Amino acid sequence: MKISKLATVAALALASFAALALASSAAFAQTIKIGFITSYSGLNGNLGPYMERAVRLYIKMHEKELPPGVKIELITRDDTGPNPDKAKQLAQELVVREKVNLLAGVVFTPNAMAIAPIATEAKVPFVIMNAGTAVITTRSPYIARTSFTLWQSSYPLGQWASKKFKTGYTLVSDFGPGHDAEEGFTKAFTEGGGKMLGNVRVPLQNPDWAAYMQRVKDAKPDTLMVFIPAGKTATAVMKNFTELGLDKAGIKLIGPGDITTDEELPNMGDVALGVTTMFHYSAAADRPANKAFVEAWKKEYGANETPNFLSAGSWDGTAMIVEAIKQQKGKLDPDKTMEIFKNWKFANSPRGPISIDPETRDIVQNEYLREVRKVGGQLANVEIETFATALKDPWKELQKKK
Ligand code: PHB
Repeated sequence: MKISKLATVAALALASFAALALASSAAFAQTIKIGFITSYSGLNGNLGPYMERAVRLYIKMHEKELPPGVKIELITRDDTGPNPDKAKQLAQELVVREKVNLLAGVVFTPNAMAIAPIATEAKVPFVIMNAGTAVITTRSPYIARTSFTLWQSSYPLGQWASKKFKTGYTLVSDFGPGHDAEEGFTKAFTEGGGKMLGNVRVPLQNPDWAAYMQRVKDAKPDTLMVFIPAGKTATAVMKNFTELGLDKAGIKLIGPGDITTDEELPNMGDVALGVTTMFHYSAAADRPANKAFVEAWKKEYGANETPNFLSAGSWDGTAMIVEAIKQQKGKLDPDKTMEIFKNWKFANSPRGPISIDPETRDIVQNEYLREVRKVGGQLANVEIETFATALKDPWKELQKKK
């Protein structure tokens, strides 16, 4: 009796041990964990869901392409807006406690910069799906970016503007991407023969718009180039520009597409009409891959919902991750993953053909000249011209020549 009971217990223990070992090795091999950090609260905290929804939608629509038994688990965290300390702490926890295979997301540059050393130390590939300051990708060999750089939009914008306007002024949020937008635009505009009448950097949070806009109005430039982070801040700029009469003073508002971000157009209203921007993504673009993307988005999230450029960067970043999982049959090695990222090309992105520059791990993409117009009674960023094709980050190209 005693002996047989013991044997049963031992057999049971062995069986459950074996089952556990099997389950945990299967789980290890078959669940890819992505630690996804973005902003769900704080400054422009409405932007996070535009990223997360794109990731979830891509996974849902492409899950069946994954190797048999392989699953992707998305572990989301709120960095509360531009908050590098918080972002760093979240990345650390995701790496140490959750043992994520990849880090991804991030709206804001300071947060991406704070996470970079953790990606390096832990050898965890980090896919940047928004933050756009040029230097970020140089901060870790484990970073690849699927979004954009501000130089990529502002430099060609300056080239275009120098043919249209004699004098210019810049107004930018006083942090990394703002500095890049100011420098990229100014370089191209002055190289093209334009004259800068001034530049002003405004606090990232709650600037006194009236004071800054008045300064620009007094200088009477032909054009004002603005960069502010997309989201509600873009609408604040648009309204203040008009309310303070800069449009009536004959000043033409231009910028990278952050200032006419697709999801805010309905909140801006007709004051946005005619604003010209340079950017890589518009929800109104009529290429088939974008039409399919926007349609899938509306089907999943509602007819009145629109993806924006943060969604496009996140959608494509997820496509890149899925490709790395497929090529490695579900077992991710960080260095092999980076090799796959570096050679990644995607002909079917909603924004047109894109690739990763193997030398810099940064995005290569087209830049479109756009104008806000009414299409079917609704404001839209209408692409007028492909201004630059397969453009690499101009800042990095200039660094190479130095
Ligand atoms: C950034 O912090 O890099 C950033 C944030 C919002 C944007 C663009 C860039 O619209």
